Amino acid sequence: MTVPGGTRHAAGELVKPALELRGVRKAFGGAQALIDVDFTLRPGEVHAVVGMNGAGKSTLVEMVCGAVVPDGGDIVIAGRRHGALTPRKAHAAGVSIVHQRRSLVLGLSVTENLLLGRLPTRGGRVDWRRAREEAVRALADLGIDVAPGTAAARLGPGERTLVEIAREVHAGGRVLILDEPTASLGGADALRIHRLVRTLRERGTAIIYISHHLDEVLDLADRVTVMRDGRRVVTVPAGEVDLPALVRAMAGERLVQDRPDRARTFGEPVLELDGLDAGRLRGFGVTVRAGEIVAVLGPAGDGQSELFGVLSGLRRPRAGRVRVNGRRLRPGSVRSALSAGLRCVTGDRLALGLVPGLSVDENLDLVRRGLARPWLVRWGRLHREGRRARDRYGVVTLHSDPAVTTLSGGNQQKVLLAAWLDTGVTACLLEEPTNGVDVAAKADIHRLVDGLADGGAAVLLASSDVDEAVRLADRVLVVRAGRVVADRPMDQVTRDDLVSLTAGGTTP
Ligand SMILES: Nc1ncnc2c1ncn2[C@@H]1O[C@H](COP(=O)(O)OP(=O)(O)OP(=O)(O)O)[C@@H](O)[C@H]1O
Ligand SMILES: [Mg+2]
Repeated sequence: MTVPGGTRHAAGELVKPALELRGVRKAFGGAQALIDVDFTLRPGEVHAVVGMNGAGKSTLVEMVCGAVVPDGGDIVIAGRRHGALTPRKAHAAGVSIVHQRRSLVLGLSVTENLLLGRLPTRGGRVDWRRAREEAVRALADLGIDVAPGTAAARLGPGERTLVEIAREVHAGGRVLILDEPTASLGGADALRIHRLVRTLRERGTAIIYISHHLDEVLDLADRVTVMRDGRRVVTVPAGEVDLPALVRAMAGERLVQDRPDRARTFGEPVLELDGLDAGRLRGFGVTVRAGEIVAVLGPAGDGQSELFGVLSGLRRPRAGRVRVNGRRLRPGSVRSALSAGLRCVTGDRLALGLVPGLSVDENLDLVRRGLARPWLVRWGRLHREGRRARDRYGVVTLHSDPAVTTLSGGNQQKVLLAAWLDTGVTACLLEEPTNGVDVAAKADIHRLVDGLADGGAAVLLASSDVDEAVRLADRVLVVRAGRVVADRPMDQVTRDDLVSLTAGGTTP
């Protein structure tokens, strides 16, 4: 089914498209990732691309920026047909991209990142004064309030994304691709990104916007293209479609459902944190009982993200204690945390969660065996157990056991959860557990987390996603600037309270 495209900008109809894809195809090792996709993008248009994990969204845009070579079809940029694009050619043709996996160099300053590869020189040396002026101008032009001398590592996640977008815009592209720019951002940061996208649209930039946040898509986009299993299902003006229709188009026959309310009973205290000081976190304490889910909610980077390091044992807190079933964990000891049955799932799957050089089953096996007998690989069992875990967690792959890096973002997330949550969990910390997963997978993961709690685990959820906290948690703590500003049973707080608390409002 094809609905003819329209746009909120009447003028958009008259100008030639900024980008046109005609019948593009791509297979990976015989499996079709994209099948005959047509797509147009007009100047001054935000064109959202949505679809389930693995639908082909990233592959489609990576093709436009020359990172993936199509097997067939045409790519037409500003009226010019390109057969084989390379990243350099795509860039020269005016295409910029902020990849699903972020790419700021954390050891460099904002200025260096912004001007990477094109720092101004004088007499053969970098002209730092001019570089700085240029960076100040570029940031001010987009209304981004970040000091150019700051090391990228010190920026919050929202600021990192803004700087990445600024870098691409500064390179002067007419087509800007944003692949899940708000995936791991809280509400306030996401709004800053939306504001920037609107500014760029007004200036005539053509923007492809990939996101799993469908309400944001409907709010921001002029048109929406839905992808499913490598095909374009439909392209519609955003004003002519609602959320349920979008989900139906994305999911096809697949069922998307949420779990009904359950009455939970809690047991004894299992996971006790007391007076923790680490990074931005100050004097943090919480007790999670058996069967209970407690959310620690706050803008990413405001303190709740220190929990992963401390609880996993990768990082020694400056002060404070962690106890599991009354037994104190040795600070800064991974072994101590693991042997107590404490499982920590990172929110940064590629940096800290998965081993990129290994296959899916090998990654699963690594965690399983790391916890048991690491000296013997039994391949038959590795694949048997791997398949079981992939099925249980709904990991969709084109081949039977591919390298984990070739999976789509959401499917990598499922592998990470499968690796850690299939291993006998007494207590766990889940950091942004549904980061980048589609609506159906999100519901599946929520059911899995419910299941963990129903089985008696103590679950701590570190998140910037208010709706996820509301859906999952029995109790919620809001952390801002490193301190707990609210601590409530979930039935005594509304979603709106939480939105305003995390965005900087006062205690209701
Ligand atoms: N280099 C590769 N080798 C093999 N398969 C690949 C490769 N890149 C992508 N794929 C496969 O192509 C399919 C489409 O992946 P893609 O990353 O485009 O999905 P997506 O729609 O962006 O999903 P997500 O929402 O999870 O990011 C997936 O099944 C993925 O595993
Ligand atoms: Mg993707």
